Amino acid sequence: MSNDPFAQLKAMQREGWSLFAPLEAVTTATAAELVKHARIRAGQSVLDVGCGTGVVALTAARAGAKVHALDLSPVLIEHGRQHAALAEVEIDFREGDVEALPFESATFDVVVSQFGHMFAPRPDVAMAEMLRVLKPGGTIAFSTWPPEHYVGQMFALVGKFVPPPAGVAPPPQWGDPQVVRQRLGDAVTDIVFDRAVMLFPALSPQHYRKGIEETLGPVVKLVAALKDEPAQLAAFRAELDGFVARYFEHNVVRQHYLMTRATKT
Ligand SMILES: C[S@@+](CC[C@H](N)C(=O)[O-])C[C@H]1O[C@@H](n2cnc3c(N)ncnc32)[C@H](O)[C@@H]1O
Repeated sequence: MSNDPFAQLKAMQREGWSLFAPLEAVTTATAAELVKHARIRAGQSVLDVGCGTGVVALTAARAGAKVHALDLSPVLIEHGRQHAALAEVEIDFREGDVEALPFESATFDVVVSQFGHMFAPRPDVAMAEMLRVLKPGGTIAFSTWPPEHYVGQMFALVGKFVPPPAGVAPPPQWGDPQVVRQRLGDAVTDIVFDRAVMLFPALSPQHYRKGIEETLGPVVKLVAALKDEPAQLAAFRAELDGFVARYFEHNVVRQHYLMTRATKT
């Protein structure tokens, strides 16, 4: 394996995220919100990065856009290809890394990411790549989980038990409008933020936890890392259940998120 800590992290992420497919049931509705927020129209060329099983890509393609979609996980991409075949839409799915996009500069009218690019370890590299492949006047739009709400807190908890390699930016920083403004810098104009809530069905906080232990990459990896440390794993589970209980009501976990849209100068 490579000695590069970022390459090692991505190899782990590629494997961890491969179990994400069942969670598309939750990200399908938010995909429609992002496509609306990005104002995607028929005929536009669109890139979806960190596409997972292609929920945003499919939604954009069904709206008539010409869509390319990219993800670290070949397993998720295969799901996306099957979804596209079923819906009878054409999407160019590729395995790849948002920090090194395999596209020419100024290719796309719109670049989107739903809870995807936020997991790249180097935000400046990911942002530069997403903006590079966007045409001048094109739209960049993404959904991200803020640090102060449930998902951000959950990722902070994961980081407390299994710290990431040095130099990796915490993903929920992407949910802070101040940080987003600074990262977009003067490469864009007309930044627009919106907030929404993703509803995650569950029968109890523990039922929710069991589900994400089997499907959500960073939590899957944490459980594997602590398999020989039962006390630590029990402490993580107890703390997580406590967090979840605060956001769990009427059989859903309420997960607030931020949507950003901007125009490339
Ligand atoms: C929370 S999932 C979201 C998937 C999908 N966009 C959705 O909304 O259902 C995060 C996705 O980002 C992908 N991802 C993480 N780091 C990536 C990177 N450096 N380059 C490309 N994709 C990445 C993962 O493989 C995973 O599919």
